[in-house]
Formats: sequence, C-alpha cells, structure tokens
Amino acid sequence: MLEPRQPMPLRFLHCSDIHLLSLRGVGPRRFLNKRLTGGVNLMLKRGKHHDEALFDRIVERAREHDVDRVVITGDLSNLALEQEFEHIVAKLDAIEIPVTVVPGNHDAYTRGSVRHRRFEQMFARFMHGERLGDHPDDFYPFVQRYDEVALIGVSTAHASLPLYAVGTVGERQLQRLDRMLEALGREGLTRVVLIHHPVMPGVSKRRHDLVDLKAFGEVIARRGAELILHGHEHKAIEGVIPGLEAPVPVHGISSGTNLSLHAGREAAFSIYRVDGRSIDRDLHLWDGRDFKPSPRPANGLG
Ligand SMILES: [Fe+2]
Ligand SMILES: [Fe+2]
Repeated sequence: MLEPRQPMPLRFLHCSDIHLLSLRGVGPRRFLNKRLTGGVNLMLKRGKHHDEALFDRIVERAREHDVDRVVITGDLSNLALEQEFEHIVAKLDAIEIPVTVVPGNHDAYTRGSVRHRRFEQMFARFMHGERLGDHPDDFYPFVQRYDEVALIGVSTAHASLPLYAVGTVGERQLQRLDRMLEALGREGLTRVVLIHHPVMPGVSKRRHDLVDLKAFGEVIARRGAELILHGHEHKAIEGVIPGLEAPVPVHGISSGTNLSLHAGREAAFSIYRVDGRSIDRDLHLWDGRDFKPSPRPANGLG
C-alpha cells in the first residue's frame, strides 16, 4: 500500500520597499515632466536613507538559508522608469533563486508607466501563475502554487496625485480574489496573500492608505486566508483581521534597505516556513552593520 504523501514545505524570504535607485541613462527630457522633476528631487533625498547594499545582504541571506523563493511586496523602484526597472530586473535575475513580486505605488509612479503596463511587462516572469481570464485587465490577482501552498499576488498600484500614495484593489479584482480564495480554500491550500498596502484599519494616514480597505476586509472575512504580507509604511505592522474560520495574521514588514535604526523602522526581512497549515517566521533586523535574528515572536501565528 502507498504511504500517504507528505506535502512539501515552502520556505521563502519576504522583504519589501527596496526602492532601488538608478537614474542612469535618464535623459533631461524626462525631467520636463513635472511629476518626475519633483520625484527625482524626492528620490535623491531618499537615496540617502536607502542603501542598495542592504538588498545585496538580503540576497546573500536568502542563499545562506537556502530558501525556495524570494517574495517582494512592492515599491521595488522609485519613479517607475524603464531604466530603473531594467536595473532591478537584472538584479532579480542575478539572485538565481525564484522571485515573486507585486507592484507598489512607486512602481506605478507616472500615468505613462501605468498606461504602458510597464511593471506588468517588465516583471512578468516574476508574476507567472494562474489567472481568472486572459485579458490584460485580469492580470491580478495571480496564483502561484507550490504543492499545498498558494501565493496570491494582489495589485493596489495606480498613479495617484503628487503627495498621495494611496492604493486601490478595485471592484473587479476583488471579485476575482473572492472566487480564487474560495476555490483555493475548498482545495485545502494554505493561502498567503501578497499586497503592498496595509490592510488593517487605522494603520495608514489618509493620502497613504488603501482606499477600499473595507471591501478587501470583507472578502477576507467571507473567504478566509492563512496569512497576509504587506509593506508600504516602512515600519513593522502586525495584527490580525477577521477571517472565515480563524482570524488572519497580517505581517507588514519595514523597508528592506532603510538605514534607520529606530525600533520598528530598521531594515528587515523575514524567513517563512509553510508546512501544511503550520506557518513559522524568523524576523531579521538591521543593526547598523548586519541583519540579526530578532527575538520578537511572530504575531498571529500558531
Ligand atoms: Fe515604499
Ligand atoms: Fe508604498
């Protein structure tokens, strides 16, 4: 008689908001665009706070820990320019570990980048998976299955007014998310939702928040999920939101490249091990010289 097959655990590294800066090859004509001029000034300031070398360290750790996958929940770039995206894609390819991404508001910084679906075009290979429909508008959510684990990539990214950093999932995407979560739940998969913006009420300031957070929360409450991972606020955010059978843990990670040493804002990444319905996390924090394991327990798990 055949032994019952053991599901394969999935081990992945989660980081976010790496904001890799590259203005190489950006011609002066681009700066005639007002939004870009403001953006470039902002980014040059921001460049002092984010260090790409920290992302290189994260990649080294991903290799040392021999993870199956690296997951990045948005704001890979600053201005959503082709040159930035090319730089980032080359970096992700060089990792030689499979990578999953979802976009953040900075990856949809200009209307042009959104109109040309620049992020979806250039990062397509990191967002392969199952979709409900094959129209470009059906691109999100996408589902990547790893044995009994499903990573579900949701987009909140769209170009917003200057100084606004809001996100929206949108009614149509929410409908697809609802159907996907229901079907994957029925199959008994462990569902990990990847989204850029925080999903717990009161966490983000207005002009920085998820506009349809309530409608997203209703889908999660109705269909359930086992874990939600996000970024955006550049600080550690942890809690739970109502689910179907149990509350759903929400882990917001700070930026992976922020040089800040303020508690909760220091650069961080987490390593998850998802084995059946059991999920473990090890959080690693930047101490000014290196990433060190944090004793902070994982909220909402187990
Ligand atoms: Fe960010
Ligand atoms: Fe963001």
